[in-house]
Amino acid sequence: MVKFRMLHIIAMVVALLMMSVGGQREYKSAVGDPGMKRDGLRVAIEAWNQCNEVHEEAPNMGSPRQADCFDLVRPSQSQYKLAHKVRRKENKLGVKQATIDGMEVIDSNKFAAWKELLLAEKCKVRDHPRPWHFWMVMLKSGNMDTEAAICPKDGTKSSPFAPEPRFPCFGEGCMNMPSIHHRYTRLTGKRNRTMHMNGGFFGTWDLDADMATAAVKENVSYYSITWEKSVGKGGWVFKHVLKTSPKYPWLMLYLRSDATRGFSGGYHYQTRGMTKIVPRSPHFKVRFTLDIGQGGGNQSQFYLMDIGGCWKNDGRACDGNVTSDVTRYSEMIINPSIVAWCTPHNLSLCPPYHTFSNGSRVHRTDEARFPYDAYHVYCSPGNAKHLEAPYNLCDAYSNPQPQEILQILPHPVWGEYGYPTKKGEGWIGDSRTWELDVGRLSHSLYFYQV
Ligand SMILES: *[C@@H]1O[C@H](CO)[C@@H](O)[C@H](O)[C@H]1NC(C)=O
Ligand SMILES: *[C@@H]1O[C@H](CO)[C@@H](O)[C@H](O)[C@H]1NC(C)=O
Ligand SMILES: *[C@@H]1O[C@H](CO)[C@@H](O)[C@H](O)[C@H]1NC(C)=O
Ligand SMILES: *[C@@H]1O[C@H](CO)[C@@H](O)[C@H](O)[C@H]1NC(C)=O
Ligand SMILES: *[C@@H]1O[C@H](CO)[C@@H](O)[C@H](O)[C@H]1NC(C)=O
Ligand SMILES: *[C@@H]1O[C@H](CO)[C@@H](O)[C@H](O)[C@H]1NC(C)=O
Repeated sequence: MVKFRMLHIIAMVVALLMMSVGGQREYKSAVGDPGMKRDGLRVAIEAWNQCNEVHEEAPNMGSPRQADCFDLVRPSQSQYKLAHKVRRKENKLGVKQATIDGMEVIDSNKFAAWKELLLAEKCKVRDHPRPWHFWMVMLKSGNMDTEAAICPKDGTKSSPFAPEPRFPCFGEGCMNMPSIHHRYTRLTGKRNRTMHMNGGFFGTWDLDADMATAAVKENVSYYSITWEKSVGKGGWVFKHVLKTSPKYPWLMLYLRSDATRGFSGGYHYQTRGMTKIVPRSPHFKVRFTLDIGQGGGNQSQFYLMDIGGCWKNDGRACDGNVTSDVTRYSEMIINPSIVAWCTPHNLSLCPPYHTFSNGSRVHRTDEARFPYDAYHVYCSPGNAKHLEAPYNLCDAYSNPQPQEILQILPHPVWGEYGYPTKKGEGWIGDSRTWELDVGRLSHSLYFYQV
């Protein structure tokens, strides 16, 4: 995925993906749990190395996928209970069990893909037009051991090469999986006469560190995701914390609504998720509340919204073939310290053209009209054959397949779609409920296709 450093970021999110149906104000939800209002939560977590794989499981942690899925039941008028769907033993399943239980011997990458299907089956909620599974928390470390050649290059086998500053690595084993600790959601008593629920996941990549102090200790990486809700009231509130360390300087944490089936961006296998209807540009919007408690310094990117998808350069749908599938991402960075790298002097970092909301297009060489400040950086897929020079290829190692990334910044050209128009909007101390016209925005963005 994307070069992304982040420290101490706390966010609260309530998401709703809406699709317009005919009339102006009539919406149909594309996600299984609109507004996160359902008392029975469905949430899963996954952890990846630089190329969205496992390679090797962390000791005693099993495969780095777990889920917290439950229904709220009411055995009597005065009593509530949470009926959990995934047991501790199932959450701890790892590639070792696959061989013990007489299954085919498979590697830890394939096992993680299989475990997603297993957890999804347990968490599945029946619905129309199809069942849905869980919100997905994704953790990722940007460390890469260039000498170990663990990650493929644009989907093809890679060879070892000398370390480069753009790939942090402290030495052998730098691509390890984090620990994943799980506080199963529970009822925590009454607040304001309403029953309250909370739960979470937390851990560290510094596996030798003391977990009890990792959250506060200097130079120890840490993450936590907690969620809470009052029974029958409001929506789930998610709180995220992410802290880097000298050994793990580049860490990522996402909360995603994935399609319930198909090949989504970043994966070469079928995934499971929350989005029961795959939205189509330009007809969908996303509504959520975001409150950023603390920034992560001047190198930290924080995405207001990240859209990921997958299609081949000739426009065909992805089919899991890692040399011809291309994952595509676009995200708006709202940390005000991040500046535009796309300038009239660095055209290779700009998309070839910009499309205004009225449909008119302007080429990146048109210095009078091209909105350079609206773009942090653009990079092209490594397997593209007809790129317009000058170009800048995306990191060939950070996804299982070639990728394309368009990172945008707050700017008046995005105001039409409900996005921030000025630096600092939506940042610390400026909590907002956003209603982003992600469908129309994504319809106007440049993506390579021939
Ligand atoms: C209880 O309700 C009051 C009034 O609505 C509110 O200000 C307060 O934050 C609530 N307390 C908790 C713990 O939710
Ligand atoms: C944390 O790491 C930095 C850089 O490696 C070092 O200068 C500092 O002394 C460390 N702090 C502690 C408390 O270990
Ligand atoms: C970024 O922050 C570091 C550490 O606080 C500081 O040394 C550096 O000058 C800052 N860079 C910019 C461009 O603000
Ligand atoms: C994958 O795509 C490449 C490039 O288009 C093609 O040469 C290859 O035959 C495909 N592999 C499979 C298994 O379809
Ligand atoms: C942008 O252009 C300037 C001047 O041409 C150059 O010095 C700099 O290295 C370029 N930056 C990038 C990130 O390519
Ligand atoms: C479209 O909008 C752009 C930017 O506001 C403006 O420069 C251009 O003249 C408009 N084109 C038409 C056909 O209205």
